[in-house]
Amino acid sequence: MSSQDRLQVGVIFGGRSGEHDVSLMSARSVLDALDRQKYTIIEIVIDPEGGWWAGEHVLEMLANHQTQALQPVTILPDPTRPGLYRLQDSMPVGLLSRLDVVFPVLHGTFGEDGTLQGLLELADIAYVGAGVLASSLGMDKGVFKEVMRAHNIPVLESRVFLRSEIEHGLEHVIAQAETIAPYPLFVKPANLGSSVGITKCRTRSDLSEGLYEASRYDRRVLVERGINGREIEVSVLGNDQPQASIPGEIIPAGDFYSYEAKYLDEHSRLLIPAPLTPEQQAEVQKIAVEAYLAIDGAGMARVDFLLDKDTGSLYLNEVNTIPGFTKISMYPKLWEASGLPYPQLVDRLIELALERKQDRNRTERHYRRQDNYGA
Ligand SMILES: Nc1ncnc2c1ncn2[C@@H]1O[C@H](COP(=O)(O)OP(=O)(O)O)[C@@H](O)[C@H]1O
Ligand SMILES: [Mg+2]
Repeated sequence: MSSQDRLQVGVIFGGRSGEHDVSLMSARSVLDALDRQKYTIIEIVIDPEGGWWAGEHVLEMLANHQTQALQPVTILPDPTRPGLYRLQDSMPVGLLSRLDVVFPVLHGTFGEDGTLQGLLELADIAYVGAGVLASSLGMDKGVFKEVMRAHNIPVLESRVFLRSEIEHGLEHVIAQAETIAPYPLFVKPANLGSSVGITKCRTRSDLSEGLYEASRYDRRVLVERGINGREIEVSVLGNDQPQASIPGEIIPAGDFYSYEAKYLDEHSRLLIPAPLTPEQQAEVQKIAVEAYLAIDGAGMARVDFLLDKDTGSLYLNEVNTIPGFTKISMYPKLWEASGLPYPQLVDRLIELALERKQDRNRTERHYRRQDNYGA
């Protein structure tokens, strides 16, 4: 098979979010696993400022600080000009490569939240993972929980406050927050990950500090009942008929699964499978699939739960549409333990992306005009 006949897969990583470096680690594993007999890989990095760059072996060039060898590139929002374009003096000057499918390995804002997915929709390029709606619902912890409640999926009591309310009426916000539940309360930026900006509040003064801290990172802040919970996670894979893996459990190093516990402390542990009763395991898998369908998930998602240690009640906490993807990350490890090794998982995600694109192509766009301008 010539390189032109192979499927051209653009792997995009890095990005403008705080999870830039985590994304590079996930991308390393994805790039290692993609079968070069089957795919021609185009590596694309988005730098922390949002610039797009491509080249041969981008990750290695980044590791060796050879960034001068990278070329500026862009994807146009124009479906009649699909693919990756070279930029010169900030102008697109020609097609660098066709893109049959894009694998966004970007965590957090501008990668996992539906914005990149929107660009790929406009460009009419197939891509791995959730579409615009599921991506943005998975990102916003506030609206996400409302959708779960509408589907009778158990979530902890919570409320969203705006930064402007916190800045102009802190007393009122605190009074309202205290009606959610007794302390401890968790305060979180609505649209962020990696536990950045999250505070466990045991007192009113913690709460007022936590509200300010979270509002540094988002204009929407979630306050939620805090529990003493076990962290149960399950991997979901598929489009219209998603499947759930066996669940796993995280034993965080600290008081909760904070940024430090996630990335800095080596003492957080993964238990695969999670020590659950068969009934609990079935419940976790059933709710995970329901939640995935409720947000119109596609491709993949990791669905995270909190299991109350005191009462045994299970609560859905969040859905991550681009979960950590290193070989030792929970998402692929749960599939491995369920009988799907990492390289086959990556193949399956690409197939699902192409299937979803085909399905989307069947949708009639009645408003489409027949005339092309300026051609
Ligand atoms: N309501 C809660 N009760 C108990 N612990 C919580 C609660 N909300 C969050 N946590 C703890 O904080 C961690 C991060 O919160 P999470 O909502 O998952 O945000 P992120 O998107 O940053 O991972 C969780 O894994 C858990 O350890
Ligand atoms: Mg989380």
